[in-house]
Amino acid sequence: MSETTKQGETLVELVGVERSYAFGETQVRALAGLDLTIQRGSFVGVIGRSGSGKSTLLNVLGGLDQPSSGQVLVDGTPLLGRSSDQLAAYRRTTVGFIFQSFNLVPHLTALENVALPLRLAGELSPSARRKRAQELLERVGLGERTGHRPSELSGGERQRVAIARALANDPSLLLADEPTGNLDSRTAQSIMAMIQSLHRDEGRTIVLVTHDTHQAETYCERVIEMADGKVKDDRRGGKSGGVEPVQEALAGEAPADAESDS
Ligand SMILES: Nc1ncnc2c1ncn2[C@@H]1O[C@H](COP(=O)(O)OP(=O)(O)OP(=O)(O)O)[C@@H](O)[C@H]1O
Ligand SMILES: [Mg+2]
Repeated sequence: MSETTKQGETLVELVGVERSYAFGETQVRALAGLDLTIQRGSFVGVIGRSGSGKSTLLNVLGGLDQPSSGQVLVDGTPLLGRSSDQLAAYRRTTVGFIFQSFNLVPHLTALENVALPLRLAGELSPSARRKRAQELLERVGLGERTGHRPSELSGGERQRVAIARALANDPSLLLADEPTGNLDSRTAQSIMAMIQSLHRDEGRTIVLVTHDTHQAETYCERVIEMADGKVKDDRRGGKSGGVEPVQEALAGEAPADAESDS
């Protein structure tokens, strides 16, 4: 795929990024002159104490929030000073989000949830959208669950639907904010293995926020530690070198009778 051929070049560049919130008389500097460069095809973990600015960073990268000042360039697009329509277009075409609380639309099936960003992009016919959504759900091991609504899925399955949805428009940048925060440790492992395989096998660029230093150091190839809205430390991750293969991890998550009850 084309992303891998461009690996190694700069995808994200932040220079002197500030994001301040007025809070009564005081200003909270959620991002305080942040400088950060991320290469295409890399898998970056962001750690740091609560309140250090991790989610703010992700929201700025994803065009969900605008910095107060500084320079943000993602895949050649400058984000500062964009209109809300321009940011919405940027979010649709360039980024995929994975959230702690999944953020699926409750009354839509898994297939419809995954097809939703395709519908918003407006490029494919309804049947082509269904076909792509089906393929994406198969990619995350949920080909048998396409008709289930979120309430009819386990937490791990919901997050896999959210991962499939995040991939729908083939984004340059995947952003995950505590994607395993609501999952038990075994399911968390399978989700992390899946996210890691998107990096390893598909060459995707991923920025993952986690409060779990061990998780970041195990799965991510680079670990950035934030403090007071800045990068405090920037080091290599990938401690384990290898984790259990995705299929095994997925098999571990499913109950024994999971395939026969749909
Ligand atoms: N809408 C807001 N208004 C005022 N202050 C805010 C707002 N959003 C975030 N902040 C402040 O900005 C700082 C950074 O918040 P952020 O959510 O980025 O932290 P975080 O590192 O993601 O923390 P956590 O690990 O708890 O999720 C915090 O001090 C927070 O209180
Ligand atoms: Mg946060």
